[in-house]
Amino acid sequence: AVVDIIAGARPNFMKVAPIIHALKKRQAGGGHLRHRLVHTGQHYDARMSGDFFTQLGIPEPDVNLEAGSGTQAEQTAAIMVRYEKLLLEAPASLCLVVGDVTSTMACAIAAQKLKIPVAHVEAGIRSGDWAMPEEINRMVTDAITNWFFTTSEQANENLRRAGIEEQRIFFVGNTMIDTLLANMDRLRPPPFRDELNLSPGGYFVVTLHRPSNVDASASFERLLKAIGKGARGMPVVFPVHPRTAKTLEAVPGLPPSIRFVEPQPYLEFNWLVKNAKAVITDSGGITEETTVMGVPCMTLRDTTERPETVTTGTNEILGTDPAALSEALERLFAGRWKKGGIPEKWDGRTGERIVAALEGLLPA
Ligand code: UD1
Repeated sequence: AVVDIIAGARPNFMKVAPIIHALKKRQAGGGHLRHRLVHTGQHYDARMSGDFFTQLGIPEPDVNLEAGSGTQAEQTAAIMVRYEKLLLEAPASLCLVVGDVTSTMACAIAAQKLKIPVAHVEAGIRSGDWAMPEEINRMVTDAITNWFFTTSEQANENLRRAGIEEQRIFFVGNTMIDTLLANMDRLRPPPFRDELNLSPGGYFVVTLHRPSNVDASASFERLLKAIGKGARGMPVVFPVHPRTAKTLEAVPGLPPSIRFVEPQPYLEFNWLVKNAKAVITDSGGITEETTVMGVPCMTLRDTTERPETVTTGTNEILGTDPAALSEALERLFAGRWKKGGIPEKWDGRTGERIVAALEGLLPA
């Protein structure tokens, strides 16, 4: 049996790495599953893609669909057309998708329409916010998924409520955390550490790229000002996502304490997070990493699809009002931030559990 493993955009790469490593280990030990790594090309340059493959030891993709940039529909369509063609020429026994990016949904649709079963890793999580393209991707993908690999009991519950039978749900944990734990000893400082004066607990990390935060330059500027002021003179490192770079150009008065840098490779980015006083973000995945590293995290969104990062972890959902952020920063400096714990099964062995389950689902 051949399993297609789909990777399309930056947050996918750390999620597929442990699955590929576990598959290879099983193959070396005589396991019967074969795999084909398919890169859709949604993210395509070194900083958003290639660096992650190198640092995480992911082999070169077997196929690159080179779908590239575009609107939501253009990207979805390009990936579907190209992946369908691949499946018609060289079918797979299963299509395994991870996370919630456009590539996840597009490949799931193309495969299921060719009667190729779909497995979804990180299934069942929901923010309830249909304004996020990722939420649509999650809902559509899960509507046509055969086997659900989940990161939390809340995800299991969401799937049960949607009528999914128990035997199709596999509570395996979090592959993103497999990657983090496997690389904890390899994290390394970025070359600008000394220049920016980054000492442990003495700086902030910021990432913002959601349209709701960065697409309107006036509100983006208000958020940046609140960050600059609330950081009380500590340096703030802001690795800039390509879509954020476009609006940044239109923001007039950027606070001098905020240092904008290129998107960081995996090992450098997580070094920055691990040693930060706190992280301010609108990402979902980063809130999981801060939870495991015990670093305070402030999420500038109204919702989260990862509630365990709040109930168990170090994350707080602040909304997008700068006043709420200022208040949270005051609490942080007053030493009043929760310590947090680690969610169930986020233990570094999720890739192995997924491969063991797949071996049972796809007998030789
Ligand atoms: C995507 C994911 C999002 C994820 C984010 C992380 C969807 C719907 N969203 O959003 O969940 O958090 O990636 O990175 O799939 N670009 C480059 N170089 C690249 C890739 C993109 O310059 O390698 C540019 C594109 O041309 C575009 C912008 O970045 O202008 C946005 O890329 P896109 O793939 O449309 O989605 P993201 O906003 O990155």
